Formats: sequence, structure tokens, C-alpha cells
Amino acid sequence: MTQIPFIPETAPFTPEQRAWLNGFLAGLFANAAPGQLPVPLLDGAPDANAANAEPLLVLFGSQTGTAEGLAKRVAKEAQQRGFAPRVLALNDYEQASLPDGGKALIISSTWGEGDPPDNAANFWSWLNADSAPRLEKLQFAVLGLGDKNYSDFCGASKKFDARLEALGAKRLAPRGECDVDYEAGAKGWLESLWGCLANGAGQGTLGSAGVPAGEAPAAHNAGKDAGTPGSNGQHTKVNGHSRPSATAFGRSNPFPARLLRNILLNRAGSDKEVRHYEISLNGSGLSYEAGDALGVVPANCHELVDELLATLRCQGEQSVTVGETAMTLREALTRHLDITKPPQELLEVAAKAAPDSELAPLLAAERREDLKKWLWGRDVHDLLNLLPVPMALEQALPLFRKLAPRLYSISSSPKAHPGEVHVTVGAVRYRSHGRERKGVASTFLADRVGNADLVKVFVQPSHGFKLPASGDTPIIMVGPGTGIVPFRAFLEERQVTGAKGKNWLFFGDQKRASDFLYEEQLGAWQKSGFLARLDLAFSRDQAEKIYVQHRMIEHAAELWSWLDQGAHFYVCGDASRMAKDVDAALHTIIEKPGGKTAEDAKACVTKLKADKRYQRDVY
Ligand SMILES: Cc1cc2nc3c(=O)[nH]c(=O)nc-3n(C[C@H](O)[C@H](O)[C@H](O)COP(=O)(O)OP(=O)(O)OC[C@H]3O[C@@H](n4cnc5c(N)ncnc54)[C@H](O)[C@@H]3O)c2cc1C
Ligand SMILES: Cc1cc2nc3c(=O)[nH]c(=O)nc-3n(C[C@H](O)[C@H](O)[C@H](O)COP(=O)(O)O)c2cc1C
Repeated sequence: MTQIPFIPETAPFTPEQRAWLNGFLAGLFANAAPGQLPVPLLDGAPDANAANAEPLLVLFGSQTGTAEGLAKRVAKEAQQRGFAPRVLALNDYEQASLPDGGKALIISSTWGEGDPPDNAANFWSWLNADSAPRLEKLQFAVLGLGDKNYSDFCGASKKFDARLEALGAKRLAPRGECDVDYEAGAKGWLESLWGCLANGAGQGTLGSAGVPAGEAPAAHNAGKDAGTPGSNGQHTKVNGHSRPSATAFGRSNPFPARLLRNILLNRAGSDKEVRHYEISLNGSGLSYEAGDALGVVPANCHELVDELLATLRCQGEQSVTVGETAMTLREALTRHLDITKPPQELLEVAAKAAPDSELAPLLAAERREDLKKWLWGRDVHDLLNLLPVPMALEQALPLFRKLAPRLYSISSSPKAHPGEVHVTVGAVRYRSHGRERKGVASTFLADRVGNADLVKVFVQPSHGFKLPASGDTPIIMVGPGTGIVPFRAFLEERQVTGAKGKNWLFFGDQKRASDFLYEEQLGAWQKSGFLARLDLAFSRDQAEKIYVQHRMIEHAAELWSWLDQGAHFYVCGDASRMAKDVDAALHTIIEKPGGKTAEDAKACVTKLKADKRYQRDVY
């Protein structure tokens, strides 16, 4: 084995260059044994040198790259444990040849309302169909990534696990599930999995490490970021290339970045507050591509912390422990704990302490939807105020979840703005139940003045939401509201690289006069012909509501002809309604001008997804 190269102080570099290079190498070799180069990460194909190693499929379903990053780290670890891993997106199930058998780990997030992420949707349709093959020769283990704030926690992983079993596949280890703070939970699940595999590897013996088949205990609220080496997504395969990130900064060690500019994009008369932020990445070693997202680590607002301290009848200066770190209570409530979204555990405690409250009957399983409605516009504070006597701090503190970073699609191309990253964020502000409320991260950003302020950030590489490999390929982008964000990045990237492919953007919002985001930049691109088509839908400028999907239908014949020429189709923005309506419009367009039956249109959309020509960044 080769010694790890490092940059000695005598090398002809400035201290900054040396630090950057050492950071790069540390990131690159994060999982290597000390003093040795790591075995290279395998993407897609097994290692020819590992002919005797047992094959292990690591399949991932991932919308924003978390499960994908974890799958790649698991593959590295598997390789070090003597397996020959192969990493594939679940939609590449045909390449995985699951009916032929072998061992497969499935790591998947959940999106929508208990749905698989886009790059697992075709897999699920295949697996769940009556025509699905028997999978008796397959041995599998499923790990779900999710968020306990959603009612169907880790729903996709549950579906995969149950259906694989129904098709005759054998469980290698119980299904695991991780909340947003997934590192420690994933680590625990993996440790027990390696135990099962060590006992059963190559012998077809299942669960012989004594781990019973069935549900694994939920690995949630780990309370502390395990900061696993390599947890910064050091490798991400993009358009067939492995992408090393040259930095030690990542989700578990975010970079304190300088906010350069904070610009309100809406004009007078708007009901919205969408802001454009320019953030310096200088000195971070962080790199990104158009299509990636930026993770922002927010802090809770001071007024809310003061209110909570008053409700809990506590002093901010008293000392508390979060995870294993001692700090003041004020620091814990400001920077470490989620003091807005009520966690399930708090709901249960509050319902018990206030059995006559409106809340108590809503906790019955069949009242889930009513509970959701009741919770809309209520926060932790409202829950604590239901209690007949103030909750003791010792009881309250363990109930709070860790304050999670928020993701924002990146609105800049790194080639157009070297050393900077731009995001475009709608500030969440509303009044409910007699109080003014604020979204934690969006107003944390909105209320920064720029230049002096530091914001902790990390890059979340996206899976699949990327420009086509060839600049000649036409692209159609549908991005109303803040859905425009990644398309500004795409267009900047294509302009800088001189891509010749045609560009078509559908944008919409409430009112043209006040809500036409990036009007000047888009107008200039349209004028120069770089943006071949710009179709706009302002819903409140006329009596009837007009949305982007209506504009798509109006131009159905041309849209079909672009698709027929090989265009990639992208959607970004609201998942709950817009993305569904746009999907329905796409089916109509393929069916009508495309001259296909409804069944054919469905198959055509499935094929577009499988070919990665229909990509979505919806939330
Ligand atoms: C991959 C990805 C990319 C994203 N990109 C962008 C982007 O480019 N731009 C962007 O602006 N956002 C984007 N988002 C959304 C973003 O991550 C945050 O969810 C959003 O900014 C809100 O976060 P917050 O902390 O401000 O609000 P939170 O503190 O999380 O509060 C939001 C919650 O407040 C409640 N709420 C909101 N409005 C109301 C109301 N009127 N009445 C009652 N209750 C209400 C709801 O429960 C809602 O879930 C993206 C999300 C993902 C996953
Ligand atoms: C719009 C949206 C919907 C989500 N829906 C669910 C859900 O229904 N159940 C769940 O457990 N998690 C849900 N999540 C949480 C994600 O599964 C979780 O953040 C996961 O770590 C993302 O992993 P990925 O980056 O690999 O896609 C949702 C997240 C978003 C932003």
C-alpha cells in the first residue's frame, strides 16, 4: 500500500494553499486506514481486482443526495470488509438483475407523502406490479432515511422491505430507520448489518447474528452529530464522473461563510418576500455544480428564545447539556434545538398533561389528518401553553429535537461566479393564533444585513438534477416562484460554457409587476435569443388563474416536438400541487400532440425518467 501523500511545510506553497491541499487529501482519503491509500470507490461496476470478493449491491433512492452519499460510504466500508460492492440508483434495477439473486442493501429516503424519491419511482412501479418476478434468490436489508415530522415516517423503506419479503426475498437484517439526524442511527444499523453479514456471508445463512427479522428500533434523535469521517459527501458521481469535494467542510462541519449581498427581488405591491443572497465560499474549499443545493444552518430568533425562556420560567444563563456538550440554555435554544416544530413526544406529553384540551383526542391514529390541520400554524410554544402548569426544564429539554439545517437549491453557476454561491429564498412570515410567526431559516437569512454576517453552510450534491452531459441537448425548464432558482444556475452555466442547445423556460408567480423574479437577466437572455422561449404565467393579472401548466398545454405541439428532439424536461418548486399539475400536463401533451394513448403516454413518461430526461427538484 502507498503512503498517503501530504503537503509538507517545506513544499513551495503558501500556508493557505497547503491547508487547502491537505484538506482536499484528507477529504479524499477520509476512509483510508492511517498511512494507507484507500481502495477506490466503486460506482456502477464491480472491481476487476476483487474477483474473489463477494458481490454486494448497494442500491439507493435519493432526492437530494443524502441517501446517495450514505450508500457510497457504505460501499467503501463494504469494500474494506472484503466485499465487492456495486452502487446503483434503485431505478437502475435492471442492471442490478435482482431476480438472479445475491445480496443487496437498499438505502432510501422518503418524499412527498410516504413516496419513494424520483430515482426510485420506476423501481417501485416494477417491484409493486403484479408482473414483478419472484425474488427468492435475493437477500436484502433496507435502511430508510426520513423525517419524523412527516406522518409516513420512512414510508418508502417500509414499502420496499415488505414487498421484497412478499416476493420471496430473504431479509439479511431488520429494516432500520433514521430521522434527519441520521449519522448515528445509520452507523448503529450498519454495525449490526456487518455482524449479520459476517456470520452469514457467502453461506446463505440469514440473521444468524441473532438479530431478529422485523422492525429495527428507530434510530432517531441521536442528539449529536456523529460526524462520521467522510460524512461530507466527499464523492458524488455526476453524469458518470466521480466528483471529489476538496474540503473538510460539510454537513457535520459547516463552513462559516460571509454573506455578501441580500437583495429583495419582489417589487412594491407584492405579497411575497423573495430574497437573493450572495455568499462567499472563499477559503472553504467547497465546490458545487449547477443543480446542487446549499445547506444552511440557521439559528432561532432571539425573541422566540426569550418567549420560551419565560414560558419555561428559566434563565438563559443556566448551564445545560446537549448531546455531550455543556452550554448555556440560551445557546441551546438558539443554535441547537428545534423550538418551533412540535415533536411527537411533546404532543404526547402535552395531551397527557392536558387531557381536556383540543389536542388530546386528536392523537388517536384515525385522527391523523385532523391533527395535521390543528398543528398547522402552531408551534412548540402553543403546545407548552396548553399545559396547566409550566413544564419543568428537565422534562422539556429532552423532548426538543435537534435544529435541522434547511436546503436551498443553488441559483448560481460556479463558472459565472467563482468563489460564490447564490441562493434565492422566500421568507416565511405569517400570523396565526394571535401571534406573528417566522420560518426559522428563511427569516434567519432575511434578517442578515450582508457583508458582516456569517452563515454556516455546506453543499448538498444533488442526485441526478443536472444539465445534460451534452451542451447541444435542448432543455425545457418549468420553475414557477422560487422554482426558478436552479434554472438561473443552469442558464448561467450554459451561457458561460457556450452550450448550443436550445433553452425554454416556463416561469410564473402572482403578479408580473411585482413578482417577476430575475426579470432583467431573463429578459436579456430572451432578447439575445439564448433563451429560445420564455413563457410566463402570472396568476393574479387577470380574472382567471393562469399557471405554468396552462402555458405548457397552450404550447403543447412545440413542447412535444422539443421532447421528440431529445430535450430534457426539468421541474422545480412546489411538490404538493404544482409538480403534480405539471406532470399531468406532460402526460396530456405526450398523449394529444404526441399521438399516443394514455397508457403509451404513461410508459413514455416512465421511459423519460429512466433515461434521466425528466428530472425534478420539488419540495
Ligand atoms: C431540495 C430543496 C430545495 C429547496 N430550495 C428552496 C429554494 O430554492 N428556495 C426556497 O425559498 N425554499 C427552498 N426549499 C425550502 C426550504 O428548505 C425551507 O423549507 C423553507 O425555506 C422554509 O424553511 P424555514 O426554516 O424558513 O421555515 P420553517 O421554520 O421550517 O417553517 C415552515 C413551516 O411553517 C409552517 N407554515 C408556513 N407557512 C404557514 C402559514 N401561512 N400558516 C401556517 N403555518 C405555516 C408550516 O408548517 C411549514 O412547514 C427547498 C427545500 C428542499 C428540500
Ligand atoms: C418535500 C419533502 C417531503 C418529505 N416527505 C417525507 C415523508 O413522507 N416521510 C419521511 O419520513 N420523510 C420525508 N421527508 C424527509 C426526507 O426523506 C429526508 O430529509 C431524507 O434525509 C432526504 O434524503 P435524500 O437527500 O437522500 O433524498 C421529506 C422531505 C421533504 C423536503
